[in-house]
Amino acid sequence: NLPARVRIHEVGARDGLQNEKTTVPTPVKAEFVRRLASAGLTTIEATSFVHPKWVPQLADAEQLFPLVRDLSELSDLGVALPVLVPNERGLDRALALGARQVAVFASATESFAKANLNRTVDEALAMFEPVVSRARAENVSVRGYLSMCFGDPWEGPVPVGQVVRVCRALLDMGCDELSLGDTIGVATPGHVRRLLTELNETDVPTSTLAVHFHDTYGQALANTYAALEHGVTTVDASAGGLGGCPFARSATGNLATEDLVWMLQGLGIETGVDLTGLVATSTWMADRLGRPSPSRTVRALSHK
Ligand code: HMG
Ligand code: MG
Repeated sequence: NLPARVRIHEVGARDGLQNEKTTVPTPVKAEFVRRLASAGLTTIEATSFVHPKWVPQLADAEQLFPLVRDLSELSDLGVALPVLVPNERGLDRALALGARQVAVFASATESFAKANLNRTVDEALAMFEPVVSRARAENVSVRGYLSMCFGDPWEGPVPVGQVVRVCRALLDMGCDELSLGDTIGVATPGHVRRLLTELNETDVPTSTLAVHFHDTYGQALANTYAALEHGVTTVDASAGGLGGCPFARSATGNLATEDLVWMLQGLGIETGVDLTGLVATSTWMADRLGRPSPSRTVRALSHK
């Protein structure tokens, strides 16, 4: 009972690059996004309109977005270019540049809400409310991220009920899609199954859910498989396994898009991604960053 097709939500240019020590030049970021689109990715998270002091790596959002915006307008590519917006100020900046997909990002734990957004969980939800309603009024789709769905570096294991409550709030607010984040990569497949089952029992439909695994403990693919078996068809991944989170110690890179595509190809699941082109893109980016990609698939396929 696996899906026939999976939509990959590519986060390398945002979740990946936000965590780089060095700031990648804007034209390199733009070329990265273009190469990802050429490799067949159709949802490419481009950047974040957050406070530039909080995430200096993405402080060039105003310069970057216009360099890639045409990808979303070209009829033959038709790429979705979602951007992160934490508040109305972020939404204003994104709408002014013509963004058509935005994402707010909540936390299931108080500790991370404070570290990431300088708010309590409920204050953050209150901050998102006008963002979601204004976006929807403009026909802009809204993804709701939910971080620390499994474990939190300060609070330990996160009770499923706590996650369900914030998911419900994000959906009731009007988010079109929820992305369940394992920010520090501690989830295991049984935990994934329990959370998805609990969400179904509280009327959160699986069709609205995406999964967002970080690979800290090497569980990201196993967790993805558990989610696919449960009916999830949208999976977040980052080209070359770039990434982490500057506000959560022990967060490493996301599930590598190449590792995901390799597994899905083997399962006969359609993604539309050209693995050779994607590996070439990640190898190119690794050269720009001055270190090899941590993705096993990138390493295997680039040393043939
Ligand atoms: P704050 O310090 O509480 O901000 O930060 P504030 O609301 O008090 O405003 C202070 C000043 O910042 C004001 O300027 C605002 O205008 C300005 P002043 O009046 O003092 O001159 N400001 C802004 N400027 C530009 N763009 C904005 C903006 N907002 C306020 N959007 C804030 C609150 C939310 C702004 C801050 O905490 C922030 O930017 N946080 C972003 C953190 C972030 O980007 N984290 C990484 C993404 S989340 C993630 O990676 C997890 C995920 O991958 C899923 C997973 O793995 O779990 C999604
Ligand atoms: Mg993340």
